[in-house]
Amino acid sequence: MFYNWQIALVMTLFTMISIFLMISIRDLGVTASKEERQASASLFGLIEERIAGIEDVQANGSVPYVMNRFHRAMRTVFLSGRRAWMLRVIPWNATVILFTIAVTVVLLMSVHLYLIDQITLGTLFLFFQYTQMLNDPIEQLGNQIQEFQRAKSGMQRSHELLSLRSEIQDGADEILPKGALGVQFEHVNFSYNQDKPVLRDINFTLKPGERLGIVGRTGSGKSSISRLLLRLYNIDSGVIRVGGLDIRSLKLEALYRRVGMVTQDVQLFDGTLRDNLTLFNVGVSDQKIFDITEKLGMRQWIDALPQGLDTHLSAGGASLSAGEAQLFALTRVFLTQPSLVILDEPSSKLDAATEATLQAAVDQLLERCTEVVIAHRLSTLEKVDKIMVLGSGSILEFGDRETLAQDHSSHYAELLRKSRLEELA
Ligand SMILES: Nc1ncnc2c1ncn2[C@@H]1O[C@H](COP(=O)(O)OP(=O)(O)O)[C@@H](O)[C@H]1O
Ligand SMILES: [Mg+2]
Repeated sequence: MFYNWQIALVMTLFTMISIFLMISIRDLGVTASKEERQASASLFGLIEERIAGIEDVQANGSVPYVMNRFHRAMRTVFLSGRRAWMLRVIPWNATVILFTIAVTVVLLMSVHLYLIDQITLGTLFLFFQYTQMLNDPIEQLGNQIQEFQRAKSGMQRSHELLSLRSEIQDGADEILPKGALGVQFEHVNFSYNQDKPVLRDINFTLKPGERLGIVGRTGSGKSSISRLLLRLYNIDSGVIRVGGLDIRSLKLEALYRRVGMVTQDVQLFDGTLRDNLTLFNVGVSDQKIFDITEKLGMRQWIDALPQGLDTHLSAGGASLSAGEAQLFALTRVFLTQPSLVILDEPSSKLDAATEATLQAAVDQLLERCTEVVIAHRLSTLEKVDKIMVLGSGSILEFGDRETLAQDHSSHYAELLRKSRLEELA
């Protein structure tokens, strides 16, 4: 039924302007909502990090500093949340304002028509009722647009995260030679950040089965060499070969299957002792675990636990002493029967007696295996074939251990003299 074209025009205009407005500003809150998500992700990252380091934080009295960081992160979440919310509700607010104007206009027109007797009071009420009917769907559309903005910002962030690619490109080769793997560095240059070279023109060759000891001051780049062998970083130039193959051409999985590394810090996972030793590989028999732990002098420790291998460990490593954790990491590596092992200061947290038993065990386990060991105690290196002395990222010396030990002018002989003096003192 047709009542009045002017009022129809006002209502149509109102509807069209509302819809047009919502469409044109529907993306207004998307970026802000993304920032809000980013801020809350940072907050949770901060909380996780601080909980992990709670002992250090409390012991060093840095609680006020940490609380301050926490409050600032909370404030960022609050401010970005408020901003995002305000931007998201703009389309909705805009329709409310438009609607108020439309209702006012319609009422004014209706009252005017009523006063000049063109319509009855009933029709006036009908017009008013019509504007209300129009309002509901538009208000709902406004609400939907808020949800849409949140969803869109979430989608954009997920997309950004999913499109991150590792700088390490996986290779294609899978087949490494059987048995111990040789290692070769050819003119390797490496830096974590472009401005500061960490390794400079590193050249050396290790034949399969040979054992190399790396010594050098803290910060000279020893750990970096070990990380490069596992391809945890891309080198700037040069070639690293393992088993004769450029590691860039190798599938990472194939490399990790044959190369084992023990670092200075050991991660524990929530699970049983067995799971932690085998890293959830169910193919490893208990017998094998016992064999290896026996050799490493850890068996007694396991037997003393009420539930043996089924003992539950909690994540983080708080349930083991630092020395135990290192023995633990060694067991883990030897269970995988690697063809190349990298030990980064494996005995730095052990007492001298434990280190001696451990050394003997490692020697046994290292048969048919190439070894790179980074050591701060020269006594750990008595059985190695080659010695590399690193100084600020360059090789100062590389050669047979015995030859270097006898050559009184060598760096290694000098280090040996120093460590003997320290022992005497
Ligand atoms: N992840 C990293 N990011 C940036 N620089 C690093 C990183 N790790 C180590 N470095 C720097 O590289 C140099 C060599 O470190 P590293 O290989 O750990 O020495 P080392 O094990 O001989 O003590 C140091 O100057 C150190 O500050
Ligand atoms: Mg180191």
